[in-house]
Amino acid sequence: MMLLTRKARFSAAYLCRNPDWPEARNRRVYGTCAVGSGHGHDYVAEFTFGGPVDPRTGVVLNLTEVKRRLGDVIEPLDLSHLNHDHGALEGPAPTSERLVRYLWHALGSGTGPCRLASIRLHESRTRNIDYTGDDSMVYVTRIVEFNAAHRLHSIRLSDEENVRIFGKCNNPHGHGHNYELAVTVRGPVDEETGTVIDAGRFDDILREEVVDRYDHRHLNHDLEEFQTVNPTSEELLRAIWKRLLPFFEHPSLHRIRLVETSKNAFEYFGEEER
Ligand code: NI
Repeated sequence: MMLLTRKARFSAAYLCRNPDWPEARNRRVYGTCAVGSGHGHDYVAEFTFGGPVDPRTGVVLNLTEVKRRLGDVIEPLDLSHLNHDHGALEGPAPTSERLVRYLWHALGSGTGPCRLASIRLHESRTRNIDYTGDDSMVYVTRIVEFNAAHRLHSIRLSDEENVRIFGKCNNPHGHGHNYELAVTVRGPVDEETGTVIDAGRFDDILREEVVDRYDHRHLNHDLEEFQTVNPTSEELLRAIWKRLLPFFEHPSLHRIRLVETSKNAFEYFGEEER
């Protein structure tokens, strides 16, 4: 099977607020999306199609046809107000979970051997949704940043071995990174709220457990988990996984991904903690 991804962009305004709920519940469920009289996003939607390569044409699907179908779906959304301008999204909360489901059904999963396999909808640079047509398993990713110093040095190795393995990263006084952490949870969409996870609660957990804990710290000196453990990105991911896991039963913690530099990224599904 061959996969092909086509990107589409649109800008739209919206507000997520249920007028029947108290303010505190709106803030917990919709986070900053419940603030004021609305706001906008430059959405980016990635549509991935999968199928066999047609031996006559040499392509997996007719891109001209795909562009036309995507245009029919995307153009009415662009420069619109989601709460007011689209019957299917009407209501107090056109969340990205509802929006991605709308895109899926509006486009149609396709006929013939080539099918729509998944949609990734980027609401912003720091939040995206993955949808495969299964309402019981939707993936929500949130990205946070923190800056920290560390020195790669294992107490289980000799000084010479540490220098040989970690090179410049073994510099006695350490060095720093602008870390970027992507946390993905998965679960069904709650029909009442239109969300997989309460956005305000998700943000609070990531701020308290990750950003407040690690930002502007020296990992070797300031964090108890790295007193005897080498603070590599691998060990940092394991520590963050253990720290986050108790907060995510429904929805469950799916994946965490740490970007250490523009050249190094690490991904973890918690296999070693289960
Ligand atoms: Ni480093």
